[in-house]
Amino acid sequence: MAIMYNEKNGSFKLDTKGTSYVIGIVDEEKFVGHAYYGPRLLDDDVNYLLKTGEAPFTPEKNSRDRLSFLDCFPQEYPTGGVGDFRESAVMVRDNGGHRALALTLSDYRIYKGKDPLAGLPATWGSEEDTETLELTLVDKVLGIKAILSYSVFEGIDAVARSVRLVNDGEAPVTIERVMSASIDMDNREYDKIILHGSWARERHIDRTPVSYGVQSTSSLRGESGHQQQPFMALLEKSATQDAGEVYGINLIYSGNCMTLADRGQFDNVRLMTGINPEGFSWKLNPGEAFQAPEAVLVYSAEGLGGMSRAFHDLYRNHLIRGEYRDKKRPILINNWEATYFDFNEEKLLAIAKEASALGIEMLVMDDGWFGNRFDDNRALGDWEVNEEKLKGGLKYLVDEVNKLGMKFGIWFEPEMISPDSDLYRAHPDWAIQIPGRTAGLARNQYVLDMSRTEIQDYIFDKMAAVLHSANIEYVKWDMNRPLSDIGSAALSAECQGELFHRYVLGVYWLQERLITEFPKLLLENCSGGGARFDAGMLYYSPQIWCSDDTDAVERLTIQEGTALIYPLSAMGAHVSDCPNHAVGRTTPFETRGYVALAGTFGYELDVTKIPAEDREQIPAQVEMYHKYNDLVRTGDYYRLASYQQNRMYDCYMVAAKDKSEALVTYIQVLGRPNSHSRRILLKGLAADKLYRIEGEERTYYGSTLMQAGILMENIWGDFKGKLIHIVEA
Ligand code: GLA
Repeated sequence: MAIMYNEKNGSFKLDTKGTSYVIGIVDEEKFVGHAYYGPRLLDDDVNYLLKTGEAPFTPEKNSRDRLSFLDCFPQEYPTGGVGDFRESAVMVRDNGGHRALALTLSDYRIYKGKDPLAGLPATWGSEEDTETLELTLVDKVLGIKAILSYSVFEGIDAVARSVRLVNDGEAPVTIERVMSASIDMDNREYDKIILHGSWARERHIDRTPVSYGVQSTSSLRGESGHQQQPFMALLEKSATQDAGEVYGINLIYSGNCMTLADRGQFDNVRLMTGINPEGFSWKLNPGEAFQAPEAVLVYSAEGLGGMSRAFHDLYRNHLIRGEYRDKKRPILINNWEATYFDFNEEKLLAIAKEASALGIEMLVMDDGWFGNRFDDNRALGDWEVNEEKLKGGLKYLVDEVNKLGMKFGIWFEPEMISPDSDLYRAHPDWAIQIPGRTAGLARNQYVLDMSRTEIQDYIFDKMAAVLHSANIEYVKWDMNRPLSDIGSAALSAECQGELFHRYVLGVYWLQERLITEFPKLLLENCSGGGARFDAGMLYYSPQIWCSDDTDAVERLTIQEGTALIYPLSAMGAHVSDCPNHAVGRTTPFETRGYVALAGTFGYELDVTKIPAEDREQIPAQVEMYHKYNDLVRTGDYYRLASYQQNRMYDCYMVAAKDKSEALVTYIQVLGRPNSHSRRILLKGLAADKLYRIEGEERTYYGSTLMQAGILMENIWGDFKGKLIHIVEA
């Protein structure tokens, strides 16, 4: 890892373990060009790629064709309005209503470590393992500065980029668009991958060719959303899990976002990500700054697997924080699918008693414990314990659960307000709404205006009072509807366009306060299942509930898509009862355990009511989790087969960083007549190490297991699974 500036040639080079990222400064005007991103280079100057020698590419020599320069020059941070007709990364409207910006280099700084991003989640690093480059670009007419920041990390092939706009001019401007990162490259017949979905079917992988024009994936819901992810990968047509070039881009942000690829007339492609410009504007007065979220770029020459492992390493080591970052999480049992709203302290204690005897370590009380919340039509905002339901109060319940040797966790939906709530009756203007227009309800609730400090303070105090009142060690932070009818009673007309982003900043601020006040708390984010499974949330909570769909088969696709970017340590995954509440499917209890093992592991069922033969399997599943979780949480992830693609079976493995052991999880979704064993080729082992398959006598070289493979016998029936533990001999 290193960042170098070559003064003579005017280029900046960022090296990671296996990649180089080169920025070239050209012409007397100091245009900032994107020269290269790919496998590591020995040369530090590749400015010849910026075509400065060719007419009409240098404006200084050929000002009559200035526009053709701007429209094909590979820009590092493209602006609009002055001649680059492709998608721009940044646009401001000046005091006179004009839209134009031309950014050229004015200064730079290289420093060890990495400064935090004010108010936003971001990767972090120390002076020993992280280095940062800051380029200051300036528009000489308006005095607007764009400070581009790039960080590289020891041992990880990723670059973290962000942008800060500063108004150093005399007059206010309005930011209409500020993307966090953009790269221009030649299109080598790329495919693109996005993750799409819906409630209960989040993050399905979708691969299509990059066609001409703009193709994007985005959210306008005020959250990253079930439907699309702040992520895109461009990859060679021939790229597979193991080979081929892949560029991945992921935004560390939880609100409206947009990622796009723009393939142009010269077969170049511009890839960018940032806050979705639709519905966004931000007034920037002289002397003020605006910090855009951070984006992460990963280049992998080892196919999609290489990209996933780089994201996992970066997020595990430089994004996730707190007490549980490197710890095994307690096995929890959540009462949502067990009881829905129909519970009291007796039912919960009966579940806890049975669960603790089986080895489960934490009871989580889900929705329905507060105010008048007997169903989902009321009481959000009334964060006071309903002692009719919980006789003896919260402390009694928590103490009783603790006496069983279990931890206790609780559910909140802090950002919401029900029209039928004491809070709404007292503060109807606290809901996001547009005056004169009836705001739309979803799940019979409105969204609180989290941009307002008095609302943040109120909610924080309410949550803190509950959390201080008993020994509560876990919070599930839910968010069950998107934002609509965007209006804040506290913002002026010219600043209403700031609400979406200010809302997200308010949520971040509240979560930061929560984990600061309760540093030992395990926070799990959730949003109607997995509608806010994003890197922004991972900065505050080490785990996120993946999906309300807990069916073992559906989860294979959801978890494969999630693990394309996010580490297994972050994936909330539970064993639930059958027929499954989302799809009505019945799968073996054992298989549900194998599938949940890919994530944080827990239960989502009434353990007092499930069939005895299922309950009897829980102690063995608990043992399995304790045996394998360190490996699953910390190891390297390799996908061996995808049920989403082959519609028959799924297989992935996790190999220890030191290659001393590995765990293969194989799920045969559908039985197949007249079938033989399948050969599965393992990955990520040391070729020359000797391994044993647990339960067998003989040894194999890693190369044998990887090149010749192992035999996975055909299993009789559907939905059957198998774990194979490989250990160094
Ligand atoms: C969301 C969550 C569920 C559950 C319910 C409670 O749908 O994803 O796990 O907490 O809310 O209302």
